[in-house]
Amino acid sequence: MTNQSLEATVDPELVRKWISEIGSDSTAAVPLLQAIQTEYRYLPRKAMDLVVGNTSITASQLFGVATFYAQFRLRPVGRHLIRVCHGTACHVGGADRLDTAIKQILDIHDPDQDTAINGSYTIEKVACIGCCSLAPVMVVGEDTFPNLKGADAQRSLQKHAKAHNEVLPGDTGKDKDAGEGDAAPAKKSKKTAEARP
Ligand code: FES
Repeated sequence: MTNQSLEATVDPELVRKWISEIGSDSTAAVPLLQAIQTEYRYLPRKAMDLVVGNTSITASQLFGVATFYAQFRLRPVGRHLIRVCHGTACHVGGADRLDTAIKQILDIHDPDQDTAINGSYTIEKVACIGCCSLAPVMVVGEDTFPNLKGADAQRSLQKHAKAHNEVLPGDTGKDKDAGEGDAAPAKKSKKTAEARP
């Protein structure tokens, strides 16, 4: 299953306006991509094509920049981002089990899919986020959840979804009201520069 249904509707006039304001040579590639991503939260193919068609930036230059920097996304992103740490400590602590548990409750089964079909959550693998003593760790939005097992991750996500009026497509309702023992957010996460995993 792809994220095709989550594709943004691109306004060509908006893209042309950014080009006229920012520039149309190769030095404008990064700021143009940033403007596109700020608007759509990822880089829609149609917006990329408009940039290539209305500037001297080639498709290979633009896609080269878009894939080089970890800040850019080429696929639609959900309303909330789940970042699962796959650094060494978290990997040893069971990051793969977290991935499996989270994808299960998001009803994500296709390796090419990273966003729930209802656009609620996107799961992303990240390198060490700097709190290895709390491994394994995931960050949902701005909240960091420490010392997680697979079931903890699902319960934490259920609570997050409930607090944000989101529906988890793969949620069977099991453990929904489990309160004690739930992994609570440890702290607000800091934005850190991350290498593309
Ligand atoms: S390895 Fe996960 S926080 Fe460092």
